[in-house]
Amino acid sequence: MPSPDTNKQEGVEARKAALRILDAVLRRGQTMDNAVQAGRGLPPADAALASAIAGETLRRLPDLDALIDGATRQRLPDDSKSRMVLRLALAQKIGLKTPDHALVATALPLVDGGPRRLVHGVLGTLLRKGLPAIDAPRLPEDVERRWGEAWGDDVVTAARRAIAHRPPLDLSFASDEACAGYRDGNSLASQNRRLEHAGAVTELPGFGQGQWWVQDLASSLPARLIPAGSANVLDACAAPGGKTMQLAAAGHRVTALDRSESRLARLSENLQRTGLHAETVVADALEWAPPSTFDAVLLDAPCSATGTFRRHPEVLYRARPAIIEQSADLQQRLLARAADWVRPGGSLVYAVCSLEPQEGEERIEQFLGERPDYRLEPAPVLADGVAQHPHGWVRVLPGMLEAEGGLDGFFTAHLVRRGS
Ligand SMILES: C[S@@+](CC[C@H](N)C(=O)[O-])C[C@H]1O[C@@H](n2cnc3c(N)ncnc32)[C@H](O)[C@@H]1O
Repeated sequence: MPSPDTNKQEGVEARKAALRILDAVLRRGQTMDNAVQAGRGLPPADAALASAIAGETLRRLPDLDALIDGATRQRLPDDSKSRMVLRLALAQKIGLKTPDHALVATALPLVDGGPRRLVHGVLGTLLRKGLPAIDAPRLPEDVERRWGEAWGDDVVTAARRAIAHRPPLDLSFASDEACAGYRDGNSLASQNRRLEHAGAVTELPGFGQGQWWVQDLASSLPARLIPAGSANVLDACAAPGGKTMQLAAAGHRVTALDRSESRLARLSENLQRTGLHAETVVADALEWAPPSTFDAVLLDAPCSATGTFRRHPEVLYRARPAIIEQSADLQQRLLARAADWVRPGGSLVYAVCSLEPQEGEERIEQFLGERPDYRLEPAPVLADGVAQHPHGWVRVLPGMLEAEGGLDGFFTAHLVRRGS
């Protein structure tokens, strides 16, 4: 984690950038990655500090707001600059342990010519009183309600603990031998190594040699369901290619399709770095038709991505019910198309990095109702501590493997086309 500097001039630029990121994410619905990209041009240390401050703020937003509301007579509007600046300052104190003098000195210039006295007064009051640690931050109210109804209060509590910290980094290896020969981290499943506090990915041993790629263990589960004997495999929403690389490394002949040319370019770079091979196709899966069927199709569908909240806390603010509904509709249409591309007796593996049952369980239930030519193949145990649903699909929830650093929320199901 970058250490907050106390150089006033530099520190202010980083906080201005953090303010822009927070505004882009909360008011304009951008992803953190896009918001950070838009602000490039800062020295790397300032850029890293800006991302860290914005990230810490998004991890604890409801609790930070409660602190601010407890210290103001009139409620500050949600998107007011004063609330934004106070959120950033409090997040630095709680999440980055920034000294009081540094966070006050860098907060006030952000509201010059504006509510400077108000911000100074509220910050002073809160800092004098002392701030709580917030080890298990609340999630946005609508998310807690939704996940509480779907998964129960224990899962919400586990998600609160999980969002407090950046998760560990999982590496996937092309072979067991390469994994066994790697000197760092623990293995939680075959071809997996988990590193704590990894730092810059490109600086890790083996990156340049293409020994591994970054992939949360949960995200590596769907490709493990593709039967070993499948010669031709389509990765239908493939970019940036984590699952394509797993499939290619397992010896399948892989076609990697994605509608985004720029994301497919990243996939090609990843293949090149790791020395793996796949044929790439830029196309919209809703319009494309393959020349012949495949032995297996992996559909890692676009989704709300709420399962990635530990790394991308902003997803909890972007994934409104209307977005989840739109995603669910798209997923059903993609499933219907992909189902026609599987040969009789072949496999269709569906996956989403979502914690919403509308994007996982409900899509598969609807699919099985509409497609009597498919049955659900019960998944084997893919990793110790990852639960199988009695129906046979895999549902990964907050709280699983918590002592080892947890997992992204995920859903995957293996469907087999009847006949042979
Ligand atoms: C969840 S991401 C895939 C991640 C990838 N499987 C991996 O493991 O690295 C979903 C992908 O679906 C692509 N996508 C969205 N709609 C699509 C469509 N109609 N046709 C093809 N690709 C689509 C997006 O561009 C995005 O790259």
